[in-house]
Amino acid sequence: MYKMSAKPMITAAKIQDRVQEIATEINRTFDFDIILSTLTGAFMFTTDLVRFMANAKHRITFIKATSYGSGTESSGVLKVSGIDDIDIKGKRILLVDDILDTGKTMSTLTHMLKEAGAVDIRTCVLMNKEARRTVDFHADYVGFEIENQFVVGYGLDYDQDYRTLPDIWTLEET
Ligand code: IMP
Ligand code: MG
Repeated sequence: MYKMSAKPMITAAKIQDRVQEIATEINRTFDFDIILSTLTGAFMFTTDLVRFMANAKHRITFIKATSYGSGTESSGVLKVSGIDDIDIKGKRILLVDDILDTGKTMSTLTHMLKEAGAVDIRTCVLMNKEARRTVDFHADYVGFEIENQFVVGYGLDYDQDYRTLPDIWTLEET
């Protein structure tokens, strides 16, 4: 059994400040065509991020990438849907996810986008758990470096719960 930490690990206010900083950094360093956001975890991060970018030329599209069963460990098998419907050839893509854990999701998606003819791909994650990495992968834009803890809220779930909370919490085993 798991329960939420007594206090948020990252408050909504702190998230907003950091998201604005990342958006500013991306605006300054990467001129891209499409934001490709991975559902469901990145939904809240992505909507906040684009509000701080406010660029009329940015296209946005969502794909679904699922690797988790119903636990805090990834099943290791990545299911991707929606990517075939997107016109990727020749495009500069900003790939957005909620969290970088083993790195399998982002490295697989990056590979798929390259195969589909993307000319430039940069990756952006709200959180990075560097200690958990099993494949060699670095995101170009990272919101928060965090310890090896399971986090929920602000889009992230545990067994589909907690996603709509505005703060980020850790789950503690009871
Ligand atoms: P990776 O492929 O192992 O890097 O896993 C990335 C995916 O696992 C993310 O897109 C999340 O959906 C999920 N994930 C990894 N760590 C956590 C966590 O602490 N809380 C909730 N979801 C997580
Ligand atoms: Mg995910």
